Amino acid sequence: MSAPVILVTGTDTEVGKTVTTAAVAAALAAQGMRIAVVKPVQTGLAPGEPGDVDEVARLAGTEGVTTHEFTRLRDPLAPDAAARLAGTSIPTVAEHAERVLEIADRDDVDTVIVEGAGGLLVHLDGGGATLADLAIHLRDNGVRAGFVLVVAPRLGTLNVTALTAEALRHRGLDLIGYVVGSYPDEPGLAERTNLDDLPNAAGAQPLGRLPERAAQLDPNTFRNNASKWVHL
Ligand SMILES: Nc1ncnc2c1ncn2[C@@H]1O[C@H](COP(=O)(O)OP(=O)(O)OP(=O)(O)O)[C@@H](O)[C@H]1O
Ligand SMILES: [Mg+2]
Repeated sequence: MSAPVILVTGTDTEVGKTVTTAAVAAALAAQGMRIAVVKPVQTGLAPGEPGDVDEVARLAGTEGVTTHEFTRLRDPLAPDAAARLAGTSIPTVAEHAERVLEIADRDDVDTVIVEGAGGLLVHLDGGGATLADLAIHLRDNGVRAGFVLVVAPRLGTLNVTALTAEALRHRGLDLIGYVVGSYPDEPGLAERTNLDDLPNAAGAQPLGRLPERAAQLDPNTFRNNASKWVHL
């Protein structure tokens, strides 16, 4: 049987998807699970520069965690726009989904984590397919696929959280829960009240929150704390 796939999406870019991906990977690896982390399309980096999966490997470690980046584009744009500007064509979401399926079918992988680019409906290929389409492809092939939604705590988050959750529901996709990607040490009024209101906006359970300086901790401390920050 294929390993289940967790798709990490966000309400926006820069909300902490990568740091959350690292924390989820570390928390599951600490339970003895063998985790494969996939970034189907990485934009904004030249060849050889460390990408999101390298940050995941740095924070979560490589004990029980393997990483895969499928496609890279130099411009810091949505994948379809970055490919257009580069004058190249990139693999389709269906092709990326096939590669995720191959990884999920491996005997040495217990869970696959896929980090999207930006938010849920960003175009990941030239045909306008999205991370939601990737999940539908996995589901249609009999793989258990669920989303973890990374959200910000700031003013405005309730709207984009509700919109993203509604888009998932509209497509019949499973929202496992949400994670606050970066919670300030000294939260203001909006940050504090949003913690109370996010469960209703998401229509899903809170899976935890990461402190704002999580990525600056030394990796051992990060790993030791990951299971306290996120609960899966
Ligand atoms: N909890 C956190 N602790 C420390 N730094 C954080 C945290 N959350 C986010 N950041 C920082 O904020 C920036 C954006 O976070 P991150 O790269 O995880 O965003 P993202 O949602 O993955 O964006 P993208 O769409 O580019 O993949 C990074 O520089 C990251 O180190
Ligand atoms: Mg990222």
